[in-house]
Parts: sequence; C-alpha cells; structure tokens
Amino acid sequence: MIDPHGPIGIFDSGLGGLSVLRAVRMLLPGEDIVYLADSGHAPYGERDDDFIADRSIAIGDWLLRQGAKALVVACNTATAQAVHLLRECTSVPVVGVEPGLKPAAMRSTSGVAGVLATAATLRSDKFRRLLAGYQAQCRFICQPGHGLVEAIERGETDSVELLALLERYLAPMLADGADTLVLGCTHYSFIDSAIRQVAGDRLTLIDTSAAIAQQLARLLTERSLLAPGSSSTSSHSSARTSLGSTGDGKQLQVVAHRLLGLEAVVGQLTISSRRTLPGDSMASA
Ligand code: DGL
Repeated sequence: MIDPHGPIGIFDSGLGGLSVLRAVRMLLPGEDIVYLADSGHAPYGERDDDFIADRSIAIGDWLLRQGAKALVVACNTATAQAVHLLRECTSVPVVGVEPGLKPAAMRSTSGVAGVLATAATLRSDKFRRLLAGYQAQCRFICQPGHGLVEAIERGETDSVELLALLERYLAPMLADGADTLVLGCTHYSFIDSAIRQVAGDRLTLIDTSAAIAQQLARLLTERSLLAPGSSSTSSHSSARTSLGSTGDGKQLQVVAHRLLGLEAVVGQLTISSRRTLPGDSMASA
C-alpha cells in the first residue's frame, strides 16, 4: 500500500531539478516534497551509463526509504539511462523528463530546431528513439552542452566563460536556420537569460517543467495518491519542502531561495552506491 500522506521524491544530479520542483509546487501546493541533489557526483552527463544508472537507483532507493509516494526524475540524463530500471524497482509512480522534441516540432516555423542536452542524454537509446519519432516533422541539430552544468553548479549564470560556450553551441544552430531551442537538461532553465543574450529573440525556448508537473498530478490523481485535503487551488498550505545534497549544498540553498523563496536548510548527505563506496579512492572516478 502506498501512503498518500508520503512526500513526492524529486531528484537531479544537482540543482537543475529545482526548475521542476518549482513547477510541482505551483501545481500541487498541498504536497510535501523531498528534493535530493546529487551534486557530489555531478555532472552526470559526462559519466558512463552504468555510473548514471547506479547513482539513480541509489537515490531513488533513498527517496523511497523517506516514504516517497512518487518519484520524479528531474534530470534528462538520469531519465534516459535509468527511468526504466527505477520503474522495475518500485510500484510507486515514476515520472521522468525528456527533451521536448514534440513541442519544438510543433512550434518551429523554420522546421529546424536545436537541442542542447548532455552528451549522455544525446547518446542514449531513449533519446535516439524519441528523435526518430519526430525527425519527419522537423530537423533537429543536437549539441552536447559540455561545461554548462559545471558552470551552473558553481553558480554562474552569465559569466564570460559561460557566454562563450553558449556562443560556440548556438551560433551553428542559428546559422543553420534554427528558430527553436529545446532545453534538454533541467539545469539549462537557469541560463535562459544568458541564452537570450547570445541569441536575442531568434530562438523560442522549450522547457518541459510544467508538463512534467501535470503528468505527475495526473498519475497521483489516477492512483488516488493526492495528499488528503490538498487542492491545487488552496492558497495557504502547510506542506513542507525538504532539500538534501550530496555536495556542500551552498548553491542549492542560494538558488532555492532565489527561485522559490525557500528558506530551507540543505541537509548534507552521503548516499553510497556500488560505484561510490565510502572510502573507495576511485569512488567518483
Ligand atoms: N539536470 C541534468 C539533466 O537534465 C544535468 C545532468 C548532468 O549532471 O550533467 O540532464
């Protein structure tokens, strides 16, 4: 039996999933939430597939041990590599995120859209299948965002280095006629103004956070798992949002405060997994 009083468990490799947390809190203000940032092991996008699956399962398991009644994998990379494995481990609803190719194909008038995502997302079978499904409607220019997640985790949202990376990634898309850009990594929601600085209004940005929150609400409703007494229209809520990090949590706290007005203290955690055994000097290699 899944307890509808339990929290919603949300995780990401770092602070990127706060963009999804914000959408979930807006749609489901009566729900308790536990958010876990695996910042001690970010970025996932530069890791091998087994490492990403290993960390995702360990964190999913930790959230379930906190009593989570649903899991939201607020990370495109972890979704691509591990959402199916998480669904095999648990009977609670599991919601993942994937790059918004469908909305991009519908919005683009030039028929050319850029996709900025991690290298691990772009090489995954899940993404390749998604791409195959929309290629007839739109030409997608896929670009790995090497270095972007690291910069965002450091708190950079408009540094000279970040703008130079964006210039390098976006200029070829613009030159090739792209009028739409899929933000295929939840971290990238935090650099939308830097993207605008580089691309002006030439790119329509596609962010799927609101759609993820709606999908979660649908699943909770279908399974009668909405928090008893909660209502999406209630303006006053005593629901709690707890934040945890496997890193130092400083940046998570800053962004959670700026973005969500959350004063929450970030709990620092060690979550061991097969590839990150405590005391193993190769732990995060
Ligand atoms: N927010 C994660 C995503 O959506 C970032 C992955 C990473 O840590 O590289 O893919």
